[in-house]
Amino acid sequence: MPGLYRPPAPEPRTPIRSLLRVIRQGDGDLLSLVPIDAYVKPYTYLGYSRRSILLVNDPAIARDILTDPLEIFPKNDLMVGALAPLVGDSIFVSSGERWRRQRAMIDPAFSQLRISTAFASMGAAVDDYEAELDRRAESGAAFSLDHAMSELTADVICRTIFSRSLESEVAREVCDSFTEFEQSVASVDLWQLIFGKPWADVKQPDAVLAACTRIRGLIGAMVDPRLADDARQSDDIVAAVIAARDAETGAGFSREELIDQLGVFFLAGHETTASVLTWVFYVLSQRPDVLAALRAEVEAVVGDGPVTIQDVKRLSYVRNVFRETLRLYPPITFIPRVAAEKTRIGRFNVKKGAMIMVSPWTAHRNALLWSEPDRFRPERFDADGGGDDTGVLMSFGLGPRVCIGAAFATIESGLILARLARRYDFSVEAPGRVRPVARLTTRPAEDIVVRVRRRERPA
Ligand code: HEM
Repeated sequence: MPGLYRPPAPEPRTPIRSLLRVIRQGDGDLLSLVPIDAYVKPYTYLGYSRRSILLVNDPAIARDILTDPLEIFPKNDLMVGALAPLVGDSIFVSSGERWRRQRAMIDPAFSQLRISTAFASMGAAVDDYEAELDRRAESGAAFSLDHAMSELTADVICRTIFSRSLESEVAREVCDSFTEFEQSVASVDLWQLIFGKPWADVKQPDAVLAACTRIRGLIGAMVDPRLADDARQSDDIVAAVIAARDAETGAGFSREELIDQLGVFFLAGHETTASVLTWVFYVLSQRPDVLAALRAEVEAVVGDGPVTIQDVKRLSYVRNVFRETLRLYPPITFIPRVAAEKTRIGRFNVKKGAMIMVSPWTAHRNALLWSEPDRFRPERFDADGGGDDTGVLMSFGLGPRVCIGAAFATIESGLILARLARRYDFSVEAPGRVRPVARLTTRPAEDIVVRVRRRERPA
């Protein structure tokens, strides 16, 4: 029965059995390390770590930590160290006053108005990708669903930030170098996590540093002509960020700061969306009932014609499928912070340097907060109350640092989901082998191999 379908996830185990599982798998997967308690308790210490790691599951406590009015919980040092060579002290990693200034300057680049303007570029990326999928349907070739979604969302980011398609040589080089960077920093260094001291230097392999230098050079090459020209000539995101001014000093971002911020948009803005789309199309391939309901809505609201931004906003079932996937497969599996001083969280004393992991993965699967948490039930998000859930969706974070690209990603995903589900059937090879892991984002442990067919419609 489709309603009983359980999308794949590691079976929760005791702490020691979880640790043994990760050692046996040898892939440093944090999801497999999460012990059974973490799925039901408001917060749990992961034992066996020198600096101590607190996993926070309770939405109210998570909100307090992420809101952080006393600035006790800045961005986690391990994450900042890993990302600094690529994105400097930019909006994603900075804290305190520096972050506030950057956020105020960048917010307008992601306003509703900007998203409406970006929508045409999103549509053009989907047009090109449909042509590519038509070729794959024709040839019957198998391909990786996750790579396909990464390509499509990278193209959307290139077009909306820089008004360049992924087919342009520079954009392609940036994306290839990002893939290299992400693959190298993606696997968690378990040794460092368990035995490392807080605020220790994070040493990156030479290959990662070389990829960062290459990416920064390429982004610089795309920014320079825009700095030389009048940036207002284009209506893309780079134009908005170049035009941004500090409210007090009137100063704009320096060239290096621009490269930092644009690097963040690539980093935070394409693998995250690719992750959720991968899981959506995987689940749809296993749930014909959900796929049929989604198609029925698209046909009723849009028919066969072009999909406008107003259509996407009207597609409530599509949005619920997106939300339910964000719940079960939050692309940012854990949101890491560090305790800058000794403090208390709930009933726990927390020492300076403790790693605090707000955990969408477990908070979204907590049986005390969600009815049937392991089931895929998009109707739970219906406006007329699909159930008695009290959980909070924290896939985009919470508080003042909530994802700046949340509205952008929601519109982009709604558009891609509506258009590709309307036109194609994806069939997954060996669906039983699919297993999620926590890398830079929540990804399948191995490529999900699919074939695509043009959808046969009833006459
Ligand atoms: C489904 C897609 C996405 C998901 C699930 C997601 C998730 C998140 C989360 C959880 C945070 C908060 C991190 C923290 O508090 O440590 C965040 C922040 C951020 N995201 Fe996203 N994101 C997505 C798409 C995007 C897109 C499309 C962009 C831009 C093009 C973007 C840019 C950013 C930036 C710049 C921040 C830092 C905001 C700040 O600290 O003020 N994200 N995202």
